[in-house]
Amino acid sequence: MADPILQQSGIFTPAVIDDIQTKAASGLYQIRGYGTLRQRRWATFDDLTFLPCSLTRIPLEGYREKCTTAVTLGTRYAKRPIQLDVPIMITGMSWGALSLNAKVALARGARAAGSSNTTGDGGMLMAERENSRTLIYEVLPSRYGINIHHMLMADGIELTIGQGAKPGTGGLLLGSKVSEVIARQRDLPAGVDQRSPARHPDFLGPDDMIVKVEELREATNGEVPIFVKMGASRVYDDVKLAAKAGADVIVVDGMEGGTGASPAILQEHTGIPTLAAVCEARAALEDMALYGEVQLVIAGGIRDGVDAAKAIALGADACYIGTAALIALNCNRPLHVEDYAKIGAAPYACHHCHTGLCPVGVTTQDPELMRRLPIDEAAERVSNLLHAMTLEIQMLARACGKSDVRRLEPEDMAALTTEASAICGIPLAGTRKVYGH
Ligand SMILES: Cc1cc2nc3c(=O)[nH]c(=O)nc-3n(C[C@H](O)[C@H](O)[C@H](O)COP(=O)(O)O)c2cc1C
Ligand code: SF4
Repeated sequence: MADPILQQSGIFTPAVIDDIQTKAASGLYQIRGYGTLRQRRWATFDDLTFLPCSLTRIPLEGYREKCTTAVTLGTRYAKRPIQLDVPIMITGMSWGALSLNAKVALARGARAAGSSNTTGDGGMLMAERENSRTLIYEVLPSRYGINIHHMLMADGIELTIGQGAKPGTGGLLLGSKVSEVIARQRDLPAGVDQRSPARHPDFLGPDDMIVKVEELREATNGEVPIFVKMGASRVYDDVKLAAKAGADVIVVDGMEGGTGASPAILQEHTGIPTLAAVCEARAALEDMALYGEVQLVIAGGIRDGVDAAKAIALGADACYIGTAALIALNCNRPLHVEDYAKIGAAPYACHHCHTGLCPVGVTTQDPELMRRLPIDEAAERVSNLLHAMTLEIQMLARACGKSDVRRLEPEDMAALTTEASAICGIPLAGTRKVYGH
């Protein structure tokens, strides 16, 4: 038995002691990148399992029978909806948070896989447009780099209300990443921390957001879909308000969602998990009779085709990936190990994107570090990841007897915990009971 005198406190753990002492030394809260470190237990996609066909259903033959993966986004109002070959898209990550090589590699990787990529805070990078097949343009509260000509070059507009990593707050780019070129793009001084506003300056709430959505639609001649992206908070009501404001596509980013830099407490203690978010979002659209007409994109901690397939079965049309795509680029790979140590990190335990000293060239503006990410090889890894994830979704769909991945439904799954049963409205495995319903 452990010596009770030497036993560590379960409340004041080494991590808590370290956090208190760091704050005591600096007088500041801690900032970091990546996403939540999931130090606590909450219901996730791992709490669901698929129920493939056996006698009650007939599976599809993998080699002979088709299972389609194409998705159309923006069928509500846009003259030119977005057509994707696969249901996994690259989420908005700013040029500033990411290096130029990372942005271009994501664009090329997405293009090769028949998917889309998204700009980010700080506007459009021309090399990104040139290398993208389908590019979604983010309109954020900061308005950094916002440009009507760039907007007209986009295939979709994403009005960003918030992010899952830090809902209710603005963006953050620490001075170490604000190089001369990033500063020029954003019209701000180099080397100075950039804290973006939490609210859009030109609308306050849902009523005048209707005008904003209309303005964006008019500015782009009604051609392209208008997305509204939000951090998962009061999802049921927020999704209803976004749909009422005229969104063609709604993006909900759960609390597991990644970031380039955010106060650590917001990542761990604000918003609701992605699993809960997708269920609330679907219920909101169903209650407005808009499910299927307004498309739903889910983000936040999506790691593989299994997470994506479960999100789709629960009601998403497609998923965004951020962190997984950065990992495909080389994030957290055991290369240049000595440089991880210099920033107090280690491969597989790095969440130090905010420092600007990314050892593998993904989240840096340092030209030397950026060169560690050769664009062509990195793009191929991104495309391979999108392809492999799509194969995983297809495999699960075929096993459940579905000829299109979007025919996956809640009925194809069982819950492994009472929490997941209650959240998703799915019977607990081994029972016929839906808990809490
Ligand atoms: C490095 C990095 C930079 C990001 N920059 C932006 C941004 O500029 N605008 C935005 O709306 N979201 C931004 N995000 C959040 C993503 O768009 C997305 O919501 C989140 O990464 C999804 O979670 P995941 O990383 O677990 O896939 C960023 C995320 C990361 C990891
Ligand atoms: S390896 Fe780079 S991109 Fe990955 S967490 Fe560390 S600093 Fe961020």
